[in-house]
Amino acid sequence: MNVQTVETAPIEGQKPGTSGLRKKTAVFMQPGYLENYTQAIFDGIGGIDGKTLVVGGDGRYFNDVAIGTILRMAAANGAAKCIVGRGGILSTPAASHLIRKRGADGGLILSASHNPGGPNADFGLKYNGPNGGPATEGVTEKIFARTTEIDAYRILDGGDVDLDTLGNSALGAMQVEIVDPVADYAELMGTLFDFEAIGGLFKGGFRMAFDAMHAVTGPYAHEILEQRLGAPAGTVMNGVPSPDFGGGHPDPNPVWAKTLMDVMYADDAPDFGAASDGDGDRNMIVGAHCYVSPSDSLALLADRAELAPGYAVGLAGVARSMPTSAAADRVAEAKGMAHFETPTGWKFFGNLLDAGKVTLCGEESAGTGSNHVREKDGLWAVLLWLNILAVTGKSVSELMAEHWATYGRNYYSRHDYEAVDSAAANKLVADLRARLGALPGQSAGGLTVSGADEFSYDDPVDGSTSSGQGIRIYFDGGGRVVFRLSGTGTDGATLRVYLEQLETDPAALDKDPQEALSGIVAAADELAEITARTGRSAPDVIT
Ligand code: G1P
Ligand code: ZN
Repeated sequence: MNVQTVETAPIEGQKPGTSGLRKKTAVFMQPGYLENYTQAIFDGIGGIDGKTLVVGGDGRYFNDVAIGTILRMAAANGAAKCIVGRGGILSTPAASHLIRKRGADGGLILSASHNPGGPNADFGLKYNGPNGGPATEGVTEKIFARTTEIDAYRILDGGDVDLDTLGNSALGAMQVEIVDPVADYAELMGTLFDFEAIGGLFKGGFRMAFDAMHAVTGPYAHEILEQRLGAPAGTVMNGVPSPDFGGGHPDPNPVWAKTLMDVMYADDAPDFGAASDGDGDRNMIVGAHCYVSPSDSLALLADRAELAPGYAVGLAGVARSMPTSAAADRVAEAKGMAHFETPTGWKFFGNLLDAGKVTLCGEESAGTGSNHVREKDGLWAVLLWLNILAVTGKSVSELMAEHWATYGRNYYSRHDYEAVDSAAANKLVADLRARLGALPGQSAGGLTVSGADEFSYDDPVDGSTSSGQGIRIYFDGGGRVVFRLSGTGTDGATLRVYLEQLETDPAALDKDPQEALSGIVAAADELAEITARTGRSAPDVIT
């Protein structure tokens, strides 16, 4: 086996977005495409000579082939060792944990998260740093800069690794260790949660449905929920990962996890339902006839996390992404806890967690996590909920009703307009931006604008500034709408419209969210001219 240096040239469009580089699978499979980007990562982080990397992915189409290429390139670039999940499988939070546990120099995670997989769907690759978290803005910029000037990549001219056999082997001068993708992660969960109490719930006849959506959490959920916690076989649905996620869209929300929603809204619904996404970092929580929005879930967990052994000492603080509802802030304020508002994307939580400023973090897009890893963590959120249910003995709907009665309810919804013409979407945002100063005092949809700005974040730990992070418009009476363009889509532009209305009247806590938000929806359309500019009369996805 020899090291080959292959001449290449920059490829247009290799700009990492909200979480790494995400493209159509066919784009990633073009000769040299994956190789160029992988070399740009290695160069962008200052080379990998003598370093140890964790490598794994969500098992989607092209995962195994891509890992073979990455391993041959890591060896050719002088890496000392790669730690790889068996079968090329590692959920994003398990990869984050493995990087931290082994003191690795970083990791490559192959995933397009909740985007569909398959030859005609999406693929992705992201680099996580030595803290186990997504590359910071600074590192991401260096990687992107390398993609624009790359002229060669290094790869071994042969050498195959058997990804299915546990243990050590050599690839050129590099060591490859194939590890059980579940074991370390399951052990970590056992240190954070009261497995005995949760096991007791199941012994007592508590019923749960977990939808792994044919994606990576299947093996994790089988092991933890059914083997270690004693939930009956069949608790985990769609638990065998498939390269195209069973032809589905592995995004745990009421639209794409409709199978689970139907189970949870049936007459004989189980007590608790949950789902996770393609790479295992997102979660959906639903009680019997009771969907919990991710923003509310974060708030409830912030309020009650102390009931789990891993958080018994209390929380240092809580952080949420800007478009996430302010429900968690209300808990933090009541408890005298620090709270932070960050731009969209998990990478912004890393500094706060590393500095010990927060313990819990969350996003409205079904992401919740804590300082146990540096990624959001789907199964972790499910286990924290189970722990709280076990200790309180209350149902999901009882917990939510109590929560809203105590803190008020931040009605919340996100409306997505997908595959919109990019120029039209950019212009919509640019025109709004230009009018921000003129909006306060203006009325729209029967509401009066009380303030408007574009979110910019000054990182309190490293002092960096991230601007252009979403347009916020506030209304008299506690309403807000946020406009943002997605950084993870692969088809045209996705316009995200985040809608929120605070309600503190005890008699008005039980409304349908879309109804409670109808004024804000009308105001949003009037102010941004969504229908006129996108040609869409309704959103593609409402969550
Ligand atoms: C989306 C979510 C964001 C999340 C990201 C990665 O990004 O909105 O909260 O961190 O996926 O899972 P977006 O497409 O909005 O840029
Ligand atoms: Zn994900």
